[in-house]
Amino acid sequence: MKIKNWIGIGIIISLIFATVYGFSQEEITQLHDSTFKTHIRPPAQFAHDQHNDTAQIADCSTCHHVYEHGKKGEGESSEGQPCSQCHFNQDDNALELINIYHKQCRGCHLEKKAGPVLCGGCHQRK
Ligand code: HEC
Ligand code: HEC
Ligand code: HEC
Ligand code: HEC
Repeated sequence: MKIKNWIGIGIIISLIFATVYGFSQEEITQLHDSTFKTHIRPPAQFAHDQHNDTAQIADCSTCHHVYEHGKKGEGESSEGQPCSQCHFNQDDNALELINIYHKQCRGCHLEKKAGPVLCGGCHQRK
């Protein structure tokens, strides 16, 4: 193999490491989706990993779902894709995006009778 190819492979490997390492570095502690042009409320508290440990949600696709023909895809997940990628409609003033966040977060808290359901329980000024 020519030396040029080795350099190319080296660059690719370091890019992969940078990506993986970069992701594990930024831990989510709250949500303030930048898709919303303005924010009326303070960020929603959501310590991603800690929340999912405490709430015992092992399946990533519980939140990062994939739908096929109107049905939730089994064993598939859309982790890494922002919710807004599929749930933001320019024409509805982000109403869908607000609704799906509330439906998923608050919906499960209501169902499980655990976790905050009042506005200030999630949107905390800190
Ligand atoms: C309780 C719901 C929930 C569960 C369970 C969950 N996530 Fe997430 N995750 C979110 C939300 C909400 C975001 C932010 C999405 C956005 O910004 O649009 C997010 C963001 C992410 C991101 C993007 C990180 C970043 O820095 O932008 C990754 C990667 C991710 N999750 C991976 C996972 C993996 C892997 C699992 C399973 C081990 C998992 N998630 C389980 C709700 C969840
Ligand atoms: C790859 C595209 C995709 C991603 C990413 C995605 N969704 Fe969805 N979601 C769908 C589809 C498709 C449906 C089913 C059709 C519909 O109701 O819009 C759906 C349905 C939903 C529903 C049920 C809607 C209802 O009316 O009952 C909620 C709640 C929801 N998504 C929340 C989220 C949240 C929160 C995130 C981010 C953590 C997310 N979705 C990420 C595609 C996606
Ligand atoms: C599938 C169920 C489920 C979903 C989806 C979910 N939660 Fe929770 N959440 C829980 C449970 C269960 C608890 C209580 C955990 C405990 O303390 O025992 C909780 C607790 C919390 C708490 C209290 C502090 C903490 O971290 O334990 C906050 C804040 C919270 N959730 C925010 C959110 C937000 C924001 C979302 C949406 C992005 C979300 N949750 C989605 C189940 C869920
Ligand atoms: C279970 C957690 C939870 C509860 C309870 C909740 N929200 Fe949210 N809300 C979220 C998440 C997550 C987002 C999306 C992340 C963000 O804030 O950008 C959001 C987004 C919003 C937004 C759009 C962004 C902004 O700041 O303008 C508004 C408005 C909002 N919520 C209002 C409310 C109101 C009013 C209540 C009470 C009736 C409420 N929320 C209760 C989790 C919650």
